[in-house]
Amino acid sequence: MPENNLEPRSVKYSVTTITELMLPSSANFGGKIHGGYLLSMMDKVAYACSSKHSGAYCVTVSVNAVDFLLPVEVGDLVSMLASVNYVGNTSMVVGIKVIAENVKTGEVKHTNTSYFTMVAKNEQGETVKVPPLLLESPIDVRRFVESIKRRKLKKHIAETMDEEKKTFDLEKELSHLKDQRCVLSDDLS
Ligand SMILES: CC(C)(COP(=O)(O)OP(=O)(O)OC[C@H]1O[C@@H](n2cnc3c(N)ncnc32)[C@H](O)[C@@H]1OP(=O)(O)O)[C@@H](O)C(=O)NCCC(=O)NCCS
Repeated sequence: MPENNLEPRSVKYSVTTITELMLPSSANFGGKIHGGYLLSMMDKVAYACSSKHSGAYCVTVSVNAVDFLLPVEVGDLVSMLASVNYVGNTSMVVGIKVIAENVKTGEVKHTNTSYFTMVAKNEQGETVKVPPLLLESPIDVRRFVESIKRRKLKKHIAETMDEEKKTFDLEKELSHLKDQRCVLSDDLS
């Protein structure tokens, strides 16, 4: 695997914020900002932050669950605050906090926090090793440790679901449908 500059870099070194005014052209039919538009902004800030840390071109490998718990309105000033939370060999986890400010009232909403896994690549498209993360505060340490735990949980869930798929027995699993809002067709095949 090709190597670039592997001097440790602090979290501060690559902290990145993107702020944008939400225009009507990004709204859905209900007048709120499209979730997909916000995802695209998150992807951009994750790219900028991870590329800064690694000094390399980065691609998005994985996005953890993104829950939009509060709607973002047209006219809100949205900020994406990104920092590298974890560094593996070629991958980095970027934590992104999304806040939306009503510029007239000053009200600030924290709409979600999500985690993007990015991988660094060179000009040939090969993965490259990234600099270690210099942890300078208890918050940096907490985020790094949380990322390790999140990765372990994700692995565990993936393995469990793989096993579930392999051993799926329709007759046995029907009990899971009790009290669910579904109806079994008479000609279920
Ligand atoms: C990302 C990619 C290089 C991984 O390829 P791979 O053959 O699995 O390579 P590796 O096994 O060496 O994995 C590379 C890193 O990605 C991480 N990774 C791979 N799949 C992952 C997943 N589903 N979730 C989180 N991390 C993942 C690995 O843990 C590894 O991290 P590490 O080097 O820090 O240990 C490859 O899948 C790819 O290029 N995907 C397309 C990415 C892209 O173009 N995205 C833009 C949107 S289409």
